[in-house]
Amino acid sequence: MKGSVSETIRSKIKAWYRKNRRDLPWRKTSDPYHIWVSEIILQQTRVSQGISHYLKFVSRFPDLKTLAAATEEDVLKTWQGMGYYTRARNLYKTAVLITNSYNGIFPGTPEELVKLPGIGSYTAAAIASIAYRYPVPTIDANVIRIIARLYGMQQDIHSVGLKKKIETLTMELLDQENPGEFNQAMMDFGSLQCTPGVPGCSSCPLNQYCKAHLTGMEDKIPMRKEKKKLQHRYFHYLVLTDHGHVWLHKRTGNDIWHSLYEFPLAEMPAGKQPDAESWYKATGISDIQPEKISKTYRHTLSHQMIHATFYQATIPPGNKQPGDELVRVPVQSIGTYPLPVLIARYLADSGTADYRQKG
Ligand code: ADE
Repeated sequence: MKGSVSETIRSKIKAWYRKNRRDLPWRKTSDPYHIWVSEIILQQTRVSQGISHYLKFVSRFPDLKTLAAATEEDVLKTWQGMGYYTRARNLYKTAVLITNSYNGIFPGTPEELVKLPGIGSYTAAAIASIAYRYPVPTIDANVIRIIARLYGMQQDIHSVGLKKKIETLTMELLDQENPGEFNQAMMDFGSLQCTPGVPGCSSCPLNQYCKAHLTGMEDKIPMRKEKKKLQHRYFHYLVLTDHGHVWLHKRTGNDIWHSLYEFPLAEMPAGKQPDAESWYKATGISDIQPEKISKTYRHTLSHQMIHATFYQATIPPGNKQPGDELVRVPVQSIGTYPLPVLIARYLADSGTADYRQKG
């Protein structure tokens, strides 16, 4: 859109790039082979180290044909010291594949490129945009930082919502005439100007458009919200039956599943099994000897993972009934009580009752 803020930002980034662009060897060509090699090297290597690796590789294998005609051992030998050898094996595999199945011509769309070994969506976007001017943005941590700051986005950096917005905004910002050059401008802008930590806002051509800067949030955006640690809990349930009935317990207190019904519960530390005393505490009945133990069920809640095991038992002869905290329920009526999904899963599996979730 002409005259829009996006257009102003785009032209300012392009002007910044003309003045500040890094002089990198893979920027002297638009040959897809060279662009591909550079992008694979830069997948896990900093630009400063990547330069010598790139020059070494393309001087030994100057084109796709030479690479495809080499042996894997040759390729690995040249790759020596660059680390992540899977990248070298994939480079070789892809060179052979393009030679044999693509007539030696590098595909030009991200959809085709991602099908090749070693090429993920970022690398596909980089190759397609730089070598073929295909209009697709490359979105990496640099771009996320620039866009999140510009638009003052306060969602967590890993959130799906943020990712979606960034995709839309980078597409809007992308220079349709030369997307590859624009993508590389964003890479340099992120590496040199809009840096992590303390960015160079005072000399930034976008400082009057940048929400993060205007609100003093540049060192807080993009945000990384603390992830609450997952708490593991080990629930041991006693499925106590007598004469077609089973005993249930209503949960109360400040904990999960308030007011839902479950079996009498012994919650134990990791690796500890319940004993007769644990069952006594849960039911008021002594000498309980479970006859059958289920597999362990895992159930994930937002910040907890419940590991649950179910123990089938009957009330030992001559023993009294459980205390008042437990209710005696006909087995076929369990489904009329509100139950945690975890309990429902066990019931459905075990055939303890002709269980059907009601309502
Ligand atoms: N990182 C990944 N691709 C790059 C490129 N083409 N230029 C600079 N840094 C990069």
